[in-house]
Order: sequence, then structure tokens, then C-alpha cells
Amino acid sequence: ASPISLRHLAAQRNFAIGVAVNATPLRKDPLYRDLLAREFNALIPENSMKFQNIHPERDRYDFSDSDEIVTFARKHGMKVIAHAPIWFHQLPRWVTESHFSREELLAIMKDHIQKILSHYRGQVLAWDVVNEPLNSDGSLRESIWFKTIGPEYIDLAFQWAKEADPDALLYINDYAEGLNSKSDGMYDLVKGMLERGIPVDGVGFQSHIGFLSANDPEEVNKNMKRLQELGLEVLITEMDVPITALKGADREEKLAEQARLYGAFLDVCLENSNCNNFLMWGLTDAHSWLQGFTGGKAPMIFDRSYQPKPAYDRMVEVF
Ligand code: XIL
Repeated sequence: ASPISLRHLAAQRNFAIGVAVNATPLRKDPLYRDLLAREFNALIPENSMKFQNIHPERDRYDFSDSDEIVTFARKHGMKVIAHAPIWFHQLPRWVTESHFSREELLAIMKDHIQKILSHYRGQVLAWDVVNEPLNSDGSLRESIWFKTIGPEYIDLAFQWAKEADPDALLYINDYAEGLNSKSDGMYDLVKGMLERGIPVDGVGFQSHIGFLSANDPEEVNKNMKRLQELGLEVLITEMDVPITALKGADREEKLAEQARLYGAFLDVCLENSNCNNFLMWGLTDAHSWLQGFTGGKAPMIFDRSYQPKPAYDRMVEVF
């Protein structure tokens, strides 16, 4: 008899549950592959599709790592959430140090979006077309895209993305989950895009709890609902909960609080019909970007030995 898995529970509700994945452990570690395919029906490439990795030189794209991840997903019946063509960070030097003109950067952006989205056309569920465009006051971040092209870089990115993969769900991703000036800025931004006829389908809530993000599930619920009124999907895209950020007298209490938060965010997503995708930013505590050498942050739902933590059990209960 096969044991209960998150993917089995999610599938019964037509829901995608997944984690961020890198090519190296996928290639080297059979336990990583087995746990991934057993527990999840979705994944998101953590770094492989970022500009500096997938487009390292002006005339050279490198799809090797991301192809491997997408092939794994297809083989195991997992959906792919793709991340993140236009971002201010993890850009190659040939972009940041060349002082391109507006016209040149527009041509580069168009080529970048169209090459990678058409490469994966029909193979991915969703694209995080523009990542982290906002400042905490809700204004647009002064990325190289904003400074060189102007605020219209966002509309253009979505239009070119739509041309390259008309069937993918196109979303904009940031850490603006609760109710604050940043999420108000996101609301105004996507509302304006819709009014201008720009093909945006959703908003990603990164959900790096206690680090970058809000941790009040009720605020997240309200924010999700106002986006639903605009007709938009919401995806939980990068959830993690380092226990160093949590209240609790000892490790056990912190793990219980971590479990409560994972459960509460999953519950909010399941309760809102416009939230159908829930992604966490790593498979185990050994595969987290927040993980120090001591292992003290323990942000994921599986521990360093790939065993389920209280947060895993809580998510099973919430389904
Ligand atoms: C992080 C990765 O996890 C790290 O491995 C990398 O060194 C830096 O980027 N928001 C995002 C993600 O949108 O792409 C970031 O991922 C974490 C914050």
C-alpha cells in the first residue's frame, strides 16, 4: 500500500504542490529524486532559468540544467512553474556592465523572453515573467530594466511573453503578501495592467516568512480576495519558514509554530478558488538557500535526513 503523500492529497483537489529544484542534487542524489517525485506534483527551477544561467552570453543560451529539470518533471507527471526571465538580480555581466541604450536593451529583453518561453512552449504551466519589480513603499524598483527602458518594461515583457507562449499562465512575483504599501502598489500595478489590456493572469506571493514577508495568514487571505475581484490568480511561490525567526522556548516549540504557519498558508490558499499552486523554496533543510552550516534555520518541511517534520504532518491534515 502506498503511504499518503502531499501530491496524492493535492491531486484530489486539482491542486499543485511543489518545491524549488536545482539540477545538481537532481542529477546526483537518488534520495532527492525519489522524495521529490513521491511527494510533489509540481516544481519550480530555483536558479536554472535565471538570466545569468540560461543566457550567459549575448549570443548564447544554455538550456542544459533547465532542460534536465523540465524533463524530470514531465517524466513524473509534475507541473513546471517557470522562474524568472526579467529580474534585477542574477544578471550576467554582459547585461549589467555594457551600458546598453534603451533600444538595445529592449531588443535584448525581447529576444531573451521570446527565446526561453518558446523553448518551453507547451511544457510549463506558468511563467513568473517579471520578478520583484517593487520597492517596499509600492513604487517601482530602480532595476536596470526600469532605469534604461522606463516603467513600460513590465507591460512589454508580458506582451512578448504572451506572444511566445499564449497558453502559459503569466504572473508577476514579489514579496507583497500581506496588507501594506507594497501590496497596495502591487494591486495598483496589476489593476493598471488589466485596464491597459496587458495579459497578466496572476500574482505570485513569495512567502519567505519572517525574513522578507508578512506572516499574518488573515492579511494574506484578504489580499488574495481583492486580487480575485480583479479576476487574478494567486500562487504561493517560494514559501519557507526559518525557525530562527519564530517565537518559542525551544526547538520543539519553534517547529510547532513553523507547522502552524505552513498549515495556515496552505489553508488560505485552498480556501480561495483563485489559489491553485503552492510552492516551497527547497525540498529539505539540506537544500535551502537560507541554510547555514549549523543547520539552525531549518526552514523546510523535511529535515536534513529527508524525514518529514511537524510542518509536513500539519499540511497533510490541512488537505
Ligand atoms: C535565491 C536562490 O534560492 C539562491 O540559491 C540564489 O543564490 C539567490 O536567489 N526571491 C526569488 C528567488 O525570487 O529567485 C531567490 O532565490 C530568493 C528570493
